[in-house]
Amino acid sequence: MLGLKLLTDPRWANIAASNLEEILTDHAWCEQKAASNAISLIAYNSEHEDLVHELTAIAIEEMQHFQMVINLIKARGYTLGRERKDDYVGQLMKFSRKDGSRNMAFIDRLLFAAMIEARSCERFRVLSQNINDLELSKFYHELMVSEASHYTTFLNFARRYSTDVQVDKRWQEWLDFESNLIRSYGSKEAIHG
Ligand SMILES: [Fe+2]
Ligand SMILES: [Fe+2]
Repeated sequence: MLGLKLLTDPRWANIAASNLEEILTDHAWCEQKAASNAISLIAYNSEHEDLVHELTAIAIEEMQHFQMVINLIKARGYTLGRERKDDYVGQLMKFSRKDGSRNMAFIDRLLFAAMIEARSCERFRVLSQNINDLELSKFYHELMVSEASHYTTFLNFARRYSTDVQVDKRWQEWLDFESNLIRSYGSKEAIHG
């Protein structure tokens, strides 16, 4: 799915379902971070008009996702907890290239975003297919479709601007790294946990 080399064990959905307040809090902050990431990509790469426009739409959509999650939290009588640290994303950030040209770092930042969208999309699919709660199942299906489209947008921008980077080769390196990384997760009630 979306190039991912290792799929999540569906039993992870049971762990998530056993603590909905926690998974929804973690999820809400994932959406906020996705919006922040889109905003900083805009701020650092404003010379690309098409990117500014498409990522503005994504930033708004991610905050709409955030709003949907906090509404769910409220409707179910839960409380939105403090922002959760995302160790998985931290490990991906460490893998991203900071040396080389400015454009190389930019392309890797786009691939970093595509990677997170791909795994989030996959985790949403696992939730939508395995969670025994009709409202949440529909909700996660809807978000799965939306994150798949974000994945495509980020990957397409990486390809469009890859003047000095072999994107497909680098994307394979990302997929290999991620498949090893995700092996150590899958036991926590967190979207990337
Ligand atoms: Fe989202
Ligand atoms: Fe997204």
